[in-house]
Amino acid sequence: MKDTAQPTRRSFLLLVPLGIFASIAGAAFRFLRPRISAATNRWVDVAPVNEITGSQPVNRKIVVQHIAGWATTTEQHNVFVLPAKGNLVLSPVCPHEGCEVLWISQLNQFACPCHESYFAADGARISGPTPRGLDALPSRVQDGRLQVHSGLPQEPGNRA
Ligand code: FES
Repeated sequence: MKDTAQPTRRSFLLLVPLGIFASIAGAAFRFLRPRISAATNRWVDVAPVNEITGSQPVNRKIVVQHIAGWATTTEQHNVFVLPAKGNLVLSPVCPHEGCEVLWISQLNQFACPCHESYFAADGARISGPTPRGLDALPSRVQDGRLQVHSGLPQEPGNRA
């Protein structure tokens, strides 16, 4: 009597094409799947530390690489550096609904043009619908250059 639990030559020959197909499908999936990350997670140059001076916030542009699906793009963003606060770096994004704030030197305040929120020179909330002050961004000095991390903003409680 024949043992049916043993693999037969026919069942083995059926498994070979399945294995080949699975290998090809796996390789294709690895190549075709979109990269999900929104922004690269790295330190971005702001300016040489010795160029950031004065008593008022200094507006600088940073270049951040974004990855969306298969596309990689670079975008410029504003940040505000506070020399009077040990080069604390503030995000210009209003915590209310995300408009970009402006520095009004005559008022010594940041102002959000969308719904009229106002912030002090250190980013603290003064008035308006914003629920809190401007977010501080993680920063460091590397080889004499101020850098900011391109990841998420720091929690308000973590400000330097
Ligand atoms: S988005 Fe700034 S006050 Fe509404």
